[in-house]
Amino acid sequence: MKLAEAFVEHVAASRMKVMAFVSSRMGSITLNMTGGSYAYRSSKAGLNAVVKGLAIDLQPRHILVLALHPGWAKTEPGARVDVDRSVAGMRAVIQRCSRHETGCFFAFNDTMLPW
Ligand SMILES: NC(=O)c1ccc[n+]([C@@H]2O[C@H](COP(=O)([O-])OP(=O)(O)OC[C@H]3O[C@@H](n4cnc5c(N)ncnc54)[C@H](OP(=O)(O)O)[C@@H]3O)[C@@H](O)[C@H]2O)c1
Repeated sequence: MKLAEAFVEHVAASRMKVMAFVSSRMGSITLNMTGGSYAYRSSKAGLNAVVKGLAIDLQPRHILVLALHPGWAKTEPGARVDVDRSVAGMRAVIQRCSRHETGCFFAFNDTMLPW
């Protein structure tokens, strides 16, 4: 939220006009089938709420706001997705998305995720 406030004028003046936030599918209340990780899930669900609000509030300024899930990326032991693939996927989503998708939640493989 503070980063968005700090950078909004720069983003508004930029060519792409995108704010993309790294969330997690762990923040999806709909997709929570296993419980646990209360603090992490809550922080990402909170971030998702901020993304949705910013998308609405910044629509008049034509700023696209996205929540992204990087996959279970190999910054952690046991993870499955190579970091290069995760980042390339998220970059592709950012490039592909159009203004009518502002406020949406996408995984690195371009799957739309429910809140
Ligand atoms: N890895 C996954 O499978 C996965 C899955 C879903 C979502 N995510 C999300 O992806 C994002 C990155 O995760 P990651 O796996 O790449 O984690 P990571 O390897 O632990 O990297 C975290 C990064 O955040 C920086 N950081 C931590 N606290 C900070 C602070 N207070 N101020 C500024 N920078 C700070 C760290 O900087 P230093 O290196 O200087 O400490 C580090 O560069 C996170 O938001 C995470 O929730 C990751």
